[in-house]
This record gives sequence, structure tokens and C-alpha cells, in this order.
Amino acid sequence: MPVDINKLKQIVYEAAGIIRQARISPEQIRTKTSQKDYVTKYDVEVQNFLESHLAEAWPDRHFLGEEQETHEFTHNGFIVDPIDGTANFVFGVPHYCISVAVLENGEITQGVVYNPAADEMYWAELGQGSYMNGKRLANPNLALEQTLVGVGSSLYDPNSIEPTVKLIAEIMKKSDIRRLGSAALDLSYVASGRQGAYFEFNIKPWDIAAGMLIAREAGVIVTTTEGKEPPLDRPLSILAAGPEIYAEFRRMLNF
Ligand code: IPD
Repeated sequence: MPVDINKLKQIVYEAAGIIRQARISPEQIRTKTSQKDYVTKYDVEVQNFLESHLAEAWPDRHFLGEEQETHEFTHNGFIVDPIDGTANFVFGVPHYCISVAVLENGEITQGVVYNPAADEMYWAELGQGSYMNGKRLANPNLALEQTLVGVGSSLYDPNSIEPTVKLIAEIMKKSDIRRLGSAALDLSYVASGRQGAYFEFNIKPWDIAAGMLIAREAGVIVTTTEGKEPPLDRPLSILAAGPEIYAEFRRMLNF
């Protein structure tokens, strides 16, 4: 059965009720791969809610969620980050989201990214454009000097620190940076033009799958930081920018 985007948005909106009612306390927080990598009981509850409700609506589809013990990557199904921006959530910064992508034959066909703190629902369908709360999104294709660049700090990967800092220094000759803390929202912000570009050297597929489609459907170029198609079955790097800034990144990254 095809995925009805309105039904998908409704399920995501309902799942966000768990986040809206959350009262976070220290014993509900654990760290995973490092001291910087948080998971809370709410990440798990949102994931469980989504897994059961998506299975009820579309029983034949595989479910991949960030907080699962083991990750099975397939070419069809849902790719879910129950709370993207968990560190923000933990510290009370109102910038995090639920991210759900639909994958068909290895291609993302639908994506939903919802920030409950701002009540901003982003979504896209392949070939149909992308939207935020009903408004069609289009990246304004500005020059680097005219906009802001979102940065991700690849918090699990010490090897990414040096290239990240180097690239930030290059960018800051012409522009300013933001480290907002949610890759899915970073990509959605490039779609809307709140940021002119976003990059991160090491990230997981569930952080970027839905946002990647939302960005592309708004005219954003999304590749790895080497100019390749982003793989959705392993850690990857990501670069998203309007065509003008993308050309500048090609120069800065030598590809
Ligand atoms: C993280 C956020 C963050 C990015 C990290 C991601 P999580 O996702 O997207 O912005 O820098 O690489 O892991 O852990 O909050 O789902």
C-alpha cells in the first residue's frame, strides 16, 4: 500500500505528543557512543510509538530506527530518527525534531521532519516539491556572502574535528556559521533559505534521510562532501547548498 503523506504527517504529529509532555530528568538520560551522544527514554518511546503506528498503517514495510539495538539497512521501508537533536532536547534548547523518511527501491520518496517546539512541519514527496506548514519551500540560491552556513560537528568522530574546523575557517572569511544541533532541521533550513548551506563530515542515514529529500525538492544540491550520491546504508558525509554556494564548496573542498 502506498504511503499517504497526510497520514504519515498525522502519525508524526501524534508521536510528538510524547515530546510535548516530556519532563526530562537526569535518570532518563543515557549516553551511547561517547559522552556527547545522548539518548533519553523519550527517544525510545517516540520510536516505539512510530514503529507500532507505522506497522499498523503500512504492515509490509521495514522499520529502521536510530535507537534500535541493531540496524538492518534495506532498500524499502521507513528510516526514522525519533528525536534528531537529542542534546538540544536534553538541555532544553527548543530545536529538535522527529524525522521519518520513506525509502522505495533505495530512493527516498517521502520525508517528514517535525519540530514540536516551533510547531513546524516540513515534508516533501519526490517530484512534488517541499513544504513547511503548507508553504512551498524554495532555496533562494544566494552567494556565500549573503547567507549563513549550518555546521554539524560529527560528534562521534574525532577524525572529523580538524577538517570541520578548517572548513569553518574558510567559510568565515566570507560568511558566518551556525551549529544548530539537528541535521534534519539543518537540511530543512537550507530548503527554506534560513541557512544557505549545511555540511557535516560524519553522520548517520537516519539523521539526513528525510531532510535530504526536503532540501532537494526545494532546489538544493545534496551530496557527500566529495560530491557523491549520499549512501543510505552506512555513516556518510553530507553537503547541502543552493547551486551558487555549492560551487564555492567544490572549490573549498577540492572536488
Ligand atoms: C545528531 C544531530 C546533530 C549532528 C549529529 C547527529 P541525534 O542527531 O543531528 O546535529 O551533528 O551528528 O547525530 O543524535 O540528536 O539524533
